[in-house]
Amino acid sequence: MTFEGGEGCGKSTQAKRLATRLQRSGYSVTLTYEPGGTPLGEELRRALKKTRETDLAPEAELFLFAAARTQLTREVILPALAQDGVVVCDRFSDSTTAYQGYGRGLPLDLVARVNVIATQGLSPNLVVLLDMAPSVALQRKKLPPDRFEFEGLAFHDRVRSGYLSLASQEPDRWLVLDASQPEATIHKAVWSRVSAMLSGSQSAPALSD
Ligand code: TMP
Repeated sequence: MTFEGGEGCGKSTQAKRLATRLQRSGYSVTLTYEPGGTPLGEELRRALKKTRETDLAPEAELFLFAAARTQLTREVILPALAQDGVVVCDRFSDSTTAYQGYGRGLPLDLVARVNVIATQGLSPNLVVLLDMAPSVALQRKKLPPDRFEFEGLAFHDRVRSGYLSLASQEPDRWLVLDASQPEATIHKAVWSRVSAMLSGSQSAPALSD
């Protein structure tokens, strides 16, 4: 399962809370994030967030995110799934569709093809979208801003509507939550959905509310 959303929406906090709760319930959990989660991914993360390289070509940006994802998928995600673990990822391929596709304006079919190569066709069985108006969310970020936080509001508005459009195309696979709600309320909604989903699967440990 993955957490998605714009800047400052609280995804990392929610991903950690969910991973901890799943672990306490007896699941073998791998918590990871993008870009990063592997030595190569960390190097690419630094390069991608640097404010200096503002003229990075959109295609170069796409391939760098895809390279990080390719490595994370091979090195971390597929091995964890092969051991019947649950993987919680803070951002995944839907970030690329929202940011490089809707945000930067790269053709969505190109982004989709690159995503399939990077993930070997793997897609999360649940995507939690923490939705919030960028004008509010960006104020929650700590300074100094990174390369993406430097983008204007119009960019972040396109990213947001991209996410909402993806969610509306697959409502059963996406859970859209208002990110301005209290942290505990959001976690409760996430847990309710995740526990219902996992208790339907075989070899599930007993889950409590
Ligand atoms: P974050 O993990 O701190 O949110 O930073 C990651 C930044 O990179 C964020 O601005 C979103 C952006 N991003 C993309 O543009 N495309 C991607 O595929 C991913 C994973 C992140």
